[in-house]
Amino acid sequence: MATTTSSSSEEAPNTKKNKKERLGWIEWLRGWFYLVYEMLFQRIMASHLHNPMPLPPVNDLTCIVTGSTSGIGLEIARQLAQSGAHVVMAVRNTKAAQELIQKWQVDSEGLSIPLNVEVMQVDLLSLDSVTRFAEAWNARSAPLHVLINNAGIFSIGEPQKFSKDGYEQHLQVNHLAPALLSILLLPSLIRGSPSRIVNVNSIMHHVGFVDTEDMNVTSGKRKFSSLVGYSSSKLAEIMFSSILNKRLPAESGISVLCVSPGIVQTNVARDLPKLVQAAYHLIPYFIFSAQEGARSALFAATDPQVPEYCDMLKADEWPVCAFISQDCRPANPSEEAHNVQTSYEVWEKTLEMIGLPSDAVERLLDGEEVKSHYRQEQ
Ligand SMILES: NC(=O)c1ccc[n+]([C@@H]2O[C@H](COP(=O)([O-])OP(=O)(O)OC[C@H]3O[C@@H](n4cnc5c(N)ncnc54)[C@H](OP(=O)(O)O)[C@@H]3O)[C@@H](O)[C@H]2O)c1
Repeated sequence: MATTTSSSSEEAPNTKKNKKERLGWIEWLRGWFYLVYEMLFQRIMASHLHNPMPLPPVNDLTCIVTGSTSGIGLEIARQLAQSGAHVVMAVRNTKAAQELIQKWQVDSEGLSIPLNVEVMQVDLLSLDSVTRFAEAWNARSAPLHVLINNAGIFSIGEPQKFSKDGYEQHLQVNHLAPALLSILLLPSLIRGSPSRIVNVNSIMHHVGFVDTEDMNVTSGKRKFSSLVGYSSSKLAEIMFSSILNKRLPAESGISVLCVSPGIVQTNVARDLPKLVQAAYHLIPYFIFSAQEGARSALFAATDPQVPEYCDMLKADEWPVCAFISQDCRPANPSEEAHNVQTSYEVWEKTLEMIGLPSDAVERLLDGEEVKSHYRQEQ
């Protein structure tokens, strides 16, 4: 596997001098270039992959997949389950998940492996719900081998909305809630070690910019749009994941990855104008099916070479997590994703926003109990 680039080593000094205010024009244009390039050439770049992608043995794995009632998450959960993994569908619509399991059971009749799938409720728009989910799972004292943070929103064209926790909704669902889930589930991931945290990210992080003093985009410095909310949340997720990967020593056996699924035909486009949705159907050659879009996450979750690659990145002085492209090859995230100072600021700000102490990871690694402020007692 190829390595990602690195060019700095020190933890960022806590200075506001030379603080970047926005993405430069060249970076922004380059970001859009990558996006259009991915859209036009993803099928060619991924032509070496089979569909569905054959998986290595997964019978011994327990995997939590968020947002597995639709699109990419549904395909990830279905393929893992039908290949023999124990799959936990972490969803807000539990009825839809139960119906899917029944359908998969019918489809799998005659297969030698019985399905081992269960449903647990979680609403990422509520940090209390996330803490309850993690608590319920950790209470089993069972190993967790793979956490796939797949659930996400892109509320195209909608006005800015906030969760009841007070956070902009793209930021909460795409970054804050998965970050909280990942950290609170560390005790189970340690039990399942070697284990992996796989974040379904997006090529759109290339046009994102994170202002840690204005995570909710409410100061007026930047005009909010769903594009700003979505791309910034995905960039924040990569920056946070890089520091998390660095904070988890190689001995923990936990690998942290972000993946790009490609441009995929799913319900994520449900808010697109009807005309654009029609265009999606007219260009099926370019757009991936959900099954094709699931390949990079499935690769990150199961490929035997992944832990070795992630360990190599941990050894790098530069804080970086693996970024797997839609063609299942290691790739570089955007230049801004390598901004060390902002990455550390995102790390600190995120922990503060999700109600965790700054040494949460170290304490959990030491076997201490750590609770988020968002855990509400009944
Ligand atoms: N499609 C693409 O082209 C594309 C490209 C790059 C990255 N991605 C990323 O891929 C991931 C999956 O998206 P998708 O394209 O498969 O979209 P999708 O079909 O809309 O699926 C999104 C899933 O997330 C769940 N979800 C949304 N809000 C939630 C919440 N508050 N709590 C719990 N679950 C919630 C949805 O549940 P409900 O069914 O209950 O709404 C659904 O199961 C996202 O992270 C997205 O950003 C997609």
